[in-house]
Amino acid sequence: MLSLAVMVLLAGLVHLIGQEQADAAAARQRRAMGSRNQGQQGGPGAMRGGIEPWLDELTKAYEKNDREKMGQLLEDMKQRGQRFQRGMGRPGEGMQPGQGRPMMGRRDTSSTENPPLSKSEAEKKTMSVLDDMDKNQRAGMMNVPITDGRLLRLLTETIGAKHVVEIGTSNGYSGNWLCLALRTTGGKLTTYEIDAHRASLARENFKRAGVDKLVTLIEGDAHKEAPKLKEPIDLLFIDADKEGYTDYLNKLLPLVRPGGLIVAHNISIRGGRAGIPEYVKAVTTNPDLETIFYEQGAGVSVTLKKR
Ligand SMILES: C[S@@+](CC[C@H](N)C(=O)[O-])C[C@H]1O[C@@H](n2cnc3c(N)ncnc32)[C@H](O)[C@@H]1O
Repeated sequence: MLSLAVMVLLAGLVHLIGQEQADAAAARQRRAMGSRNQGQQGGPGAMRGGIEPWLDELTKAYEKNDREKMGQLLEDMKQRGQRFQRGMGRPGEGMQPGQGRPMMGRRDTSSTENPPLSKSEAEKKTMSVLDDMDKNQRAGMMNVPITDGRLLRLLTETIGAKHVVEIGTSNGYSGNWLCLALRTTGGKLTTYEIDAHRASLARENFKRAGVDKLVTLIEGDAHKEAPKLKEPIDLLFIDADKEGYTDYLNKLLPLVRPGGLIVAHNISIRGGRAGIPEYVKAVTTNPDLETIFYEQGAGVSVTLKKR
């Protein structure tokens, strides 16, 4: 148990050090630019107020072998991480409203980026389920931020996709965004989920969003199940086990039609990080592919399979 806690602690520290480095670089850049806004958006002061006391407390708890305190502190950081994913700040910050980076979650509704509007009753129904999932089901579901959901919908509709394949359904949040587009294109979604509980939530969510007829949910290990597919794929969305991305790419690329897209999630290359290096290399060194990295949200790569 203790060794597990130590591993989690180390993983947390590595993550935080990455955040600290990115923050230091951002602070240097703001200073260099003489930004008048320094300090208003989670500058160094916000970081001191957030991460350092947390780290001190964690170190003390670790030295005293106070497992309960360590557990509380790790849970606290986990919740901060979830709030970060919903666009309410960054893991190390104080989380006061208005702090943090540009928002990624459903609160990202500045005058230049209003929430999507429903054009029909069917769309309204799906959107209201998405909103409910965003507010009430995110914990433990690892859903894409709303910005990335919107991107998936736009890409799917823009290329007129008839068949989208998703690796990593979770509870169906990104799947519902994809279905908003597929309803319009007359397409369908094949999605894979290994976890029975999440798969069952997804079935429920697709049904109440009114898109269940568009979806084939395959419960099982996508590394084994997805290669059984025979139909062409217009858009492949990879959002599951990170070490498996290249395997999914290798197995499914032959089915992606020329002009089709491969979208991969959590591929942030911000702050000099290489996302998932093996995958990034695979999609940037193949002459048949053209890849761009979209850094809003959680970091997405969009790869075109050239005609
Ligand atoms: C990041 S979540 C997906 C989130 C989802 N795309 C969304 O935004 O709503 C990753 C999901 O992939 C699933 N997963 C992990 N490994 C898998 C595998 N080998 N086969 C199928 N699903 C897998 C996990 O159980 C988890 O639910």
